[in-house]
Amino acid sequence: MRGLAAYSGSVLVDGLARVIAKHPEANIANAFNYKQVGCKLWARDKLFESAGPSYRKVAVLGGWYGVLPAMLLEDPRFNIGATVSYDIDPAVEEVARTLGSGFGERFRAVTADMYTLDYRNVAADLIVNTSCEHIADLPGWLGFLPSGTRVLLQSNDYFSEPTHINCVSSLDQFRAQAGLARTDFAGALPMKKYTRFMLIGTI
Ligand SMILES: C[S@@+](CC[C@H](N)C(=O)[O-])C[C@H]1O[C@@H](n2cnc3c(N)ncnc32)[C@H](O)[C@@H]1O
Repeated sequence: MRGLAAYSGSVLVDGLARVIAKHPEANIANAFNYKQVGCKLWARDKLFESAGPSYRKVAVLGGWYGVLPAMLLEDPRFNIGATVSYDIDPAVEEVARTLGSGFGERFRAVTADMYTLDYRNVAADLIVNTSCEHIADLPGWLGFLPSGTRVLLQSNDYFSEPTHINCVSSLDQFRAQAGLARTDFAGALPMKKYTRFMLIGTI
């Protein structure tokens, strides 16, 4: 991986090499599997097309190891001031920090429950949650966000995965569950074992 980092010049791949060396216990291979990365490439492209390139602060909730904020910071099409990856699992914070260390102050990782954050203090102009299938009450969580907030949400129909407590069976069901005030993008990305759904809009 260190060789790949040197070859590609990628800050993210360099961070990945550091994670493998420093946190051998982390399940980073899962976070970087083909489908996980594919879903995040899709998010990045559709965000750029439907909502543009400029964000002062991007907050990612249920951000896990921080792969998506790192991918956004690395994409030269975007102009992003800072990102914060929030996750309830304290074990992922240090791993995310290592992954994003090359981005300096523009990448932060914080342990927090997304249901207890004060979103006025978070003060992000884009709120991302690609872990909607992992949280019990999506409408309840969206109710904490100030109205007019721009959001990017992903869920899926991968019901057989035990940690997925709130899957949806269709894009229409996801739209109804989220109840966005305005939708700029709604789409489905079929994968081998499941379909991923995404909404970009404002609440
Ligand atoms: C397996 S991961 C992410 C999967 C998803 N496909 C992705 O990469 O975006 C789901 C994450 O959501 C986090 N999570 C679940 N409930 C949460 C909550 N209430 N607040 C913050 N993070 C939460 C978990 O700790 C976990 O790291």
